[in-house]
This record gives sequence, C-alpha cells and structure tokens, in this order.
Amino acid sequence: MRRQAKLAVGLACALLVGCERKAENAPAEPSADLQRGVAKAGEAIERGVEKAGEAIQHGVDKAAPALEQGAKDVGAAIERGVEKAGPVLKQGAKDVGAAIERGVDKAGAKTAQDSALGEPKAEASFESARGIELGGTAKFYEKDGSVVVVVNIDDATPGPHGIHIHEKGDCSDITGKSMGAHFDPKKTKHGLPIARVKHLGDLGNIDVDKDGKGTLEIAVHDASLADRGTSTFLGKAIVIHAGEDTGKGSSGNSGTPIACGVIKSS
Ligand code: CU
Ligand code: ZN
Repeated sequence: MRRQAKLAVGLACALLVGCERKAENAPAEPSADLQRGVAKAGEAIERGVEKAGEAIQHGVDKAAPALEQGAKDVGAAIERGVEKAGPVLKQGAKDVGAAIERGVDKAGAKTAQDSALGEPKAEASFESARGIELGGTAKFYEKDGSVVVVVNIDDATPGPHGIHIHEKGDCSDITGKSMGAHFDPKKTKHGLPIARVKHLGDLGNIDVDKDGKGTLEIAVHDASLADRGTSTFLGKAIVIHAGEDTGKGSSGNSGTPIACGVIKSS
C-alpha cells in the first residue's frame, strides 16, 4: 500500500498544480487538505485493486464452466470418433480377412491344379541372353495324350513374346541360335497354336504384364515326354523371343531369341 500511497501523492501533485512549487511556499507541515486528498486517493486505489481482483475471480469463475464444457465436448468428439472408426475398422478387418480367404482359396486352387496335373515329368529353367534379365521355369506334364506346358517368367519386357520348342537342347549361344529351328518332326509349316497347320514346337506367345511377369499354360497334342520317339520334347530347348509370334512366315518373325532352357526329365 506504500507504493499506492506514493502514486496517490504523485497523482494528487499532478492534479493540484505540483507539490514542489507548493512546498517552496507552503509551511513545512502538509496541509490538512492534501492529507485528506492522499488518504482518499489511497482508498480509491485500494477499491480499484479489490475490484480488479473480483473481476479476475469472476473471469475465472466464468471461464471454469466454459473450460469444463470444452473438455466435455472434446471427450464427446473423441468418443464419437472412436464410435465412427469402430465400424470402419471392423469392415477393414473383415475385408482383410476376406482377401486372405480368397488368397488361400486361390492357392488351394493352384495346388489342386498342380495335383490334377500330377508331378511334372520334365522341367527347364531359363537362362537369358547377354544383357537380358529374364528368368523363370517351364514345367511339362503328360495328360490325356497331350503334353501340358506351364511357363512362369519374370523380369521380361511387357507384351507378347513368341515361345517355341526348338530342335536342339543347346543354349550355349542363344542369340546365335545354337538351339536350331522350331521342333518340326512332321516337316510341316509354322503357325500359331490355334492353326490347323503348325510345327509341333509352336507354343504361340507368352503375355508379359506391366510387372514383367508372364504365365502360359498350353496343351500340345501328339507331343510326348518319352525317353525315345520322334515326338518327345525331352532333350529339346524351350525358347522365348524378343517380339511377338505373328504366325506368319517360316518362324513367326518373333525376333531375336532372348531366353532358352534345355528340357530335362524331372
Ligand atoms: Cu523360337
Ligand atoms: Zn514354328
């Protein structure tokens, strides 16, 4: 309160023309008027401080329910969020579950297919020409008097690639065609698999997707996987070309050979 009193004196001096000048002329004792003025100013300031305190208290009192309400609102919003997220999460879990089930079903179907074809009688694993990344395998099954060829490749360029059985099991010079011509024991003409006239080794095309993966399953009538005989694929080569087999010309114009695998008994 001493500071307030000083302030009050200051204020009073400012209002009442100035204490210093007054003090020069006035008697040593401050006048009774001045003393009363100081006392009044002090009281006024005290009341001001009290009022300010009350106002702050009032503000806090008013703010408290608002804060409480705010906290309640946030809590309710979180609860609503969790409630809303609940079904979404549940649906998400269901979707994931269904996807897994579908995956398992597909895997099951694949296994069933494999077991329907039995164990492969022969296999080939692709080696690629210099500068080519392509890899993969071919599996050969005997079924109902046909040879079923199942090919899976990776890292190939997207699009169709001509694929044939060539007459020599020699992949030592792929681009130089060490594997010879298309396997053609009946001395006939080139064609796509759907054509009536075609080489026994004409498997058509393998389609490669944008991820570089290609699969082909094709049944070749009159071929065999026997140790001997003119129609066996054993000891021959399976070859993939850079381009599409159009079915035209002497070999389908499918371009440079890019991968080759020798067909061997499993
Ligand atoms: Cu070929
Ligand atoms: Zn051909």
